[in-house]
Amino acid sequence: TWQISTSPEAATTLAPLREAAQLLRTSDIPVAFPTETVYGLGADATRSAAVRGIYAAKGRPSDNPLIVHVCDLDMLRGFVDPAEGIPEIYRELVRRFWPGPLTILLRCPRADNNASTTSSSHPLSRRMLAPEVTAGLPTFGARMPASPLARTLIQLAGTPLAAPSANASTKPSPTAASHVLDDLDGHIELILDGGNCDVGVESTVVDGLCEDGGPPLVLRPGGVSMEELRSVPGWEGVVKGYRDESEEGKKGAPGPRAPGMKYKHYSPKAKVVLFETRSGRGIEDVRAEMGLLEEEKGGVVGIIRTLGWRKLSGDEQQGEEIVREKAIVEDAETNGHSTLGYDISTSTIGKARVLDIGLGQQTKMVAQGLFSALRELDRRGADVVFVEGIEDRDDIAAAVMNRLRKAASEIRA
Ligand code: TXA
Ligand code: MG
Repeated sequence: TWQISTSPEAATTLAPLREAAQLLRTSDIPVAFPTETVYGLGADATRSAAVRGIYAAKGRPSDNPLIVHVCDLDMLRGFVDPAEGIPEIYRELVRRFWPGPLTILLRCPRADNNASTTSSSHPLSRRMLAPEVTAGLPTFGARMPASPLARTLIQLAGTPLAAPSANASTKPSPTAASHVLDDLDGHIELILDGGNCDVGVESTVVDGLCEDGGPPLVLRPGGVSMEELRSVPGWEGVVKGYRDESEEGKKGAPGPRAPGMKYKHYSPKAKVVLFETRSGRGIEDVRAEMGLLEEEKGGVVGIIRTLGWRKLSGDEQQGEEIVREKAIVEDAETNGHSTLGYDISTSTIGKARVLDIGLGQQTKMVAQGLFSALRELDRRGADVVFVEGIEDRDDIAAAVMNRLRKAASEIRA
């Protein structure tokens, strides 16, 4: 696997992007690239062999459709039904949030419809998305990423890029080039390194087609919040079209969940226990759990704090020897130019080693650091990770809690 750095100086030269674009046009092995949300694993969306390469590299089930990334509206117009264009309901939405972390569902043009169009003056309109992109669905998801690097890459490739998140299937999404390398080394040839992702969670997926006459839907919460969507004409009545894990019965009695309930998504190797915030329970439960672990086997305990939990201090663990090695986690593999915005302190409680990460007070920082923190704790051998949830509001917190509920094998009220 080659890793091409786009440091501030290097970003002024297009050479790495040209090389990546050339691979995208000619190879069937996907290319990893940064977006403002997470890293994507891209392939020419019009070539079946190339798109199949994505599913192969990720180990992704082929019935899960991919998002089509475009650099501008002209490129997108070449792939929608020429008679329909981009539906009116999306006009203001796209004006407000593109380029940005928003994915809209569009109808796929029917093959016969497209072929019968006399569009010799618009050669693009005769190109079709590979059927593998949509996994057989009559719609496709489209997104124009905010990352200039991503848009330039798409422009140079001259074709829309089908791209899921560039993680191995079931792992947390990658927010740094090193995360992609950890998961996909040996399966891909090139990663464009654009440093850490700004948003940290994936795009919001919306369906404004309202095929059943219902209101527009959010299919996946993400970088654009419900609150922001509602402020757009035609989207005042947008509703949640997804269900969180906690609403599906994961909410746990203490103790291991039934093995059959194990959900595999955004999952590190460690067991993740999520504490929802409203109950007022919190660090005491974590400490009780740690006590157990310490007595029984002396494992490695990860803690991800957000807003409320205090850092465990020497005073709270009377008599125990505390090792306070405070480390700024630096992305060593990416030339050190990207420093993650949180730190880890390490302490020892009895036989247990405790790795304590504070993601910061602001929801934006929690979103930015979440996937990276889960990966960092895995790298350091955590057996269990206790995560302090945040209040599930109509902002990006909804996306954070959605991902955490999926990652968790246990949820405490
Ligand atoms: O931020 C993002 O969206 C990132 C970056 C790389 O752009 N991409 C991403 O892709 O998260 P992926 O494949 O990991 O997630 C795509 C989501 C899935 O939940 C998929 O089911 C949904 O979008 N999706 C795609 N096409 C769809 C369609 N036609 N109908 C319903 N859902 C669709
Ligand atoms: Mg994904």
